Amino acid sequence: MSSAPLPPLAPGALPLAGHFVAYRADPLAFLMSLAARGRLVGMRLGPIEAFLVREPDDIERVLVTEHRRFWKDRMTRGLGRILGDGLLTSEGDIWLRHRRLLAPAFHRERIATYGSDMALAAEHFALAREPGEVRDLHADMMRLTLEIVGKALFDSDVGPRAADVARALDAVVDRFGTGLITLFPWIERLPLPDNHRTREAIATLDDVLLGVVRARRARGGGGSDLLSMLLAAEDDAGRGLSDREMRDELMTLFLAGHETTALALSYAFVLLSKNPDAEARLRAEINTVLGDALPTTEHLARLPFVRATILETLRLYPPAWAIGREAIEETSLAGYRIPKGTQLWISQWVNHRDARYFPEPERFLPERWLGGLERALPRFAYYPFGGGPRICIGNQFSLLEASLVLATILRRVRVRVLEQRPLAFVPMITLRPTGPIVVAYEPAPKPDLLRVPVSAVP
Ligand code: HEM
Repeated sequence: MSSAPLPPLAPGALPLAGHFVAYRADPLAFLMSLAARGRLVGMRLGPIEAFLVREPDDIERVLVTEHRRFWKDRMTRGLGRILGDGLLTSEGDIWLRHRRLLAPAFHRERIATYGSDMALAAEHFALAREPGEVRDLHADMMRLTLEIVGKALFDSDVGPRAADVARALDAVVDRFGTGLITLFPWIERLPLPDNHRTREAIATLDDVLLGVVRARRARGGGGSDLLSMLLAAEDDAGRGLSDREMRDELMTLFLAGHETTALALSYAFVLLSKNPDAEARLRAEINTVLGDALPTTEHLARLPFVRATILETLRLYPPAWAIGREAIEETSLAGYRIPKGTQLWISQWVNHRDARYFPEPERFLPERWLGGLERALPRFAYYPFGGGPRICIGNQFSLLEASLVLATILRRVRVRVLEQRPLAFVPMITLRPTGPIVVAYEPAPKPDLLRVPVSAVP
């Protein structure tokens, strides 16, 4: 055992609850306060102690160079009760086998084939908007990304039951997202209506997803979606995924793959609505490059401000706001001893606000990404999709989707946020808004009314 000291805990822990009350009151502010205290500072949430890793180099050790010493933290593993052996929650050989089987379905060239469906879904959404219509932007984006991921994953097989899937996923995330059940597992055994609803939601998801897998197998596969690729995939020993393994992966992809991108899009529209100069510059770029055409994957290289807008949105309001790991053996980090079982948290919310790398960190400045900032930053100063072997498998899918949907909708519509207060969040598994984001959809301004001259577009 090393003689290095243990990392410090933040002051103010109460008996039993620890820092739980302060954390629950405002998790994001609480993590920022830990980061301000030092390189590795801990909190106690009920029975669990967790330490925030703040420095990019330390994060790189945990996620990349020494990733074998860590697995997913207790909170994430708690999700395994729903997601089974899906990629997000599995470990070791099972994870590796599944990752290898799924990887070809997420290659850049493969993903590009979904581009036209993404743009078309967004176009239908934009065309259906009445001038001045007032709606909940977050609910709209959730429906749109569910439709897109449903089409890419299953073609149209889930279509009639997509709404059931959406409701069931929502119920499950609500229940597991706060981490309460992981901290206090006995809650699950109480005869509470919430527990009943969760069991019902899981039964619905099993029913729909296993039904889709079995029906497709019975038809002998076929189709151009991800489901058909997964059904055909085999490992080196010639083994494919069982129905149960397929169910776990599909559930994981549905869960990981639609809400995150819906949040990125919702927050991008909010930030643009509150930053008219950035919005005008973006519109000028889109009008110059696209004219009347729907965007395609080929256009994206000529739409740098679209990409910069998405990167800046993911910086300020990262849909995945924290990543957790647990030490599976004793190790050391930042000069401290890390005993086996230590929970480490790594937070995009915190790192993406580090003024050393992002001057004026609270300002929405997409242009900061135009001069090669991505390549100049330390690897873990900015990591909306994580990093190392467990990096998000859907990162290209989601960047493509967010770019195409944003450009398509902006061609036709202006999204005006009606609430002037800053956004407030409930950090669950993802960084959700506290309530509906009420917006008015208006026709996009005519190109000649834009305030930024087209010559200003890089
Ligand atoms: C803006 C959108 C997205 C964000 C911010 C995001 C973020 C992340 C992050 C941070 C991780 C790593 C978690 C960890 O290391 O513990 C992750 C993993 C994962 N994501 Fe995403 N994601 C997004 C979209 C998607 C999409 C569209 C899909 C699928 C269609 C997807 C599927 C997954 C899966 C399966 C994993 C687990 C990978 C593994 O462990 O091998 N994500 N995501």
